[in-house]
Amino acid sequence: MTRFDAARVRAEFPILRTTVPGGAPLHYLDNAATSQMPEAVADAMRDHDFRRRANVKRGVHHLAECATEAYADARQRVARFLNAGDDREVVFTSGTTGAINLLAYAFGATLSPGDEIVLSVLEHHSNLVPWQLLRDRRGVALKFLPATADGRVDVTALPDIVTPRCKLVSVTHVSNVTGGETDIAAVVAAAAVVGARVAVDGAQRVSHGPIDVRALGVDFYAFSAHKMFGPNGVGVLWGRGELLETLPPFLGGGEMIRTVSLDRTTYADIPARFEAGTPPITQAVGLGAAIDWLTGIDRPAAEQHMARLTGRVIDGLATLGGGNARIEVVGPAMTPGRYPVVSFAVDGAHPHDICQILDGHGVALRGGHHCAQPFMDSRGLAGTSRASLALYSDDGDVDAFLNGMEDALARLTL
Ligand SMILES: Cc1ncc(COP(=O)(O)O)c(C=O)c1O
Repeated sequence: MTRFDAARVRAEFPILRTTVPGGAPLHYLDNAATSQMPEAVADAMRDHDFRRRANVKRGVHHLAECATEAYADARQRVARFLNAGDDREVVFTSGTTGAINLLAYAFGATLSPGDEIVLSVLEHHSNLVPWQLLRDRRGVALKFLPATADGRVDVTALPDIVTPRCKLVSVTHVSNVTGGETDIAAVVAAAAVVGARVAVDGAQRVSHGPIDVRALGVDFYAFSAHKMFGPNGVGVLWGRGELLETLPPFLGGGEMIRTVSLDRTTYADIPARFEAGTPPITQAVGLGAAIDWLTGIDRPAAEQHMARLTGRVIDGLATLGGGNARIEVVGPAMTPGRYPVVSFAVDGAHPHDICQILDGHGVALRGGHHCAQPFMDSRGLAGTSRASLALYSDDGDVDAFLNGMEDALARLTL
């Protein structure tokens, strides 16, 4: 297999050539929070803003038409990235959180008290709190799939938890805490038995290349551009056209209407019905460029590269402090379906202290509950430190991480 040329990829990310205060080179290992942006994406947005910037759909002048075309083109790129059947199934949102709130509101409006929604204990708060708000508004019940010991959604619990009252199962594709991938096929199969819909939070999956929503067999898929080398401020809710068409709007305002009178409004067709107000046009163009960039990557080689580095992180943690440091990796061993997010807890050291010491080494980690407090509670953890890699990560990043960790252990646990 071709060796992945991380150096060539890194060269496209100016931020990776910067240093942190104190002079250490930046080693960015917080990609699960936000990935960095290549020049090609920034260039596409700059070019749009300097040559085609206008509001979409609202004007007949040249720039308005150019902007409308660019926005439609971005939607087509997303549709291709997802292998969607129709561009109209792609709704631009502010991000994954915006997408799931839209879904919880609009799909939730079709539910009745006593209907059930199944989530998992591993969910990011973005795929939990919107459903709690819905529960409080409409009296639906929430049920939760447990996690396996190694930090994946436990699909063996599906037959017990997904009952005929279940209307939707909404789960993460890849956990932002453990890096564990969910067996979506098992979720889809269990939901089909009772006629429930399936929504997937793809925030941590999309930086790894195209998704085939039709092959997955899901009904809704949500993600954010900033986690896949695109800009922040834009994301997507994809939904099966025939389902989206049945849902009421979420936000009201300009562009989502067909007719408005003082008494009554009729709504536009999908996707405009769900895109009230001026959308994130430049950001959508950036997302389209990020998709182009990402699909030009030698994917198998990139995955092999990230798996090797993730293996180095996991093995390295086990040998720190002469192998005597009490470090628990909260996530699966390095197997297929294990993504490059490594959370770990160090006995006697607070994750924030670890992150602070590592920051002095130029290593950007994240510490805390990672917006997955119920999962942390289920493990009796206040939080973890998390190193998350991307395809531009390299051995220098892993070396700096492990050296910094030796320093942190010496300073915090002696
Ligand atoms: C699994 C998962 N879901 C949802 C989100 C929320 O994404 P955003 O803040 O871009 O809406 C994140 C962000 O960390 C995530 O990791």
